Amino acid sequence: MSTVIQDRTDATSTELDLAPLSPRLGAEVRGLRLSGSLAPSTLAALKAALLRHRVLFLRGQQHLDDAGHEAFGRLWGEIEPHPTVPAPDGTRFLELDSRHGGRADSWHTDVTFRVAPPKVCILRAVVLPPLGGDTVWANTVAAYEGLPDELKAIADRLWAIHGNDFDYAESRVSEGASAQETAGRRQYRAIFTRTVIEAEHPVVRVHPETGERALMLGHFVKRLARLSTSESRHLFDILQSRVVRLENTVRWRWSQGDVAIWDNRATQHYALNDYGDAHRVVRRVTVSGDVPVSVDGRRSVDLTAAAAQ
Ligand SMILES: [Fe+2]
Repeated sequence: MSTVIQDRTDATSTELDLAPLSPRLGAEVRGLRLSGSLAPSTLAALKAALLRHRVLFLRGQQHLDDAGHEAFGRLWGEIEPHPTVPAPDGTRFLELDSRHGGRADSWHTDVTFRVAPPKVCILRAVVLPPLGGDTVWANTVAAYEGLPDELKAIADRLWAIHGNDFDYAESRVSEGASAQETAGRRQYRAIFTRTVIEAEHPVVRVHPETGERALMLGHFVKRLARLSTSESRHLFDILQSRVVRLENTVRWRWSQGDVAIWDNRATQHYALNDYGDAHRVVRRVTVSGDVPVSVDGRRSVDLTAAAAQ
């Protein structure tokens, strides 16, 4: 656990100082300074660690400014701006600012309303509340693997319609929220949904790098394809509840300078909204991903493009 990082050219010989945080997912990477000029061997080790642990955490990255954050992100692939939320000037970030409705307090995988959701997301804390505002991640591969065979057989055949005009936000606004929070959320939702984007994805996707099967659900799911509203809701709840079991999660308490990197193909996450009107700002670099593939080899469908034809 205390191995010092060895920056050699051979990727297989590079070791990270990794401290797993829970049995199912999450590890802290210690002693590494993130930048856009990491040695190839170190980057390869980070990528391997991400596939294994699903979410990585690094403390003490205060040196990382916006440019450095984006430069590090580009090491993982093409960076994409959010399809509807404008990025801060001159960047490709998604910024979540609690004063402007940026509170992701519902379980989701990022941007699954697109036909090709991001593969990796890199989140940096910019402003933190004095207490609260933790983020929790869940392992969607372990959730699938934990299903009884009978439910796996059902899940393997299901498809879901994901949309950015999901219905959770309206129902969550009222729960003890201040007028400032409520107004901010309404404004954020209006921006988020200014163009409706939908995709149909398999409920079980095959991870393009590991071959593992993962449940692909979360709050962008509007309904399960070809089922009634009631059937859709019941089946969604059964499967989604497997994802978010506490044993299947890891919780991170943010400090200044922290960075979290997650495999968006194998996780869901939830940002706790327990800090009232305190200020919280995080910035996310989003790395483009593949079109998901089902267990029988079919690819997700871009419903927005299909509707436009
Ligand atoms: Fe998110």
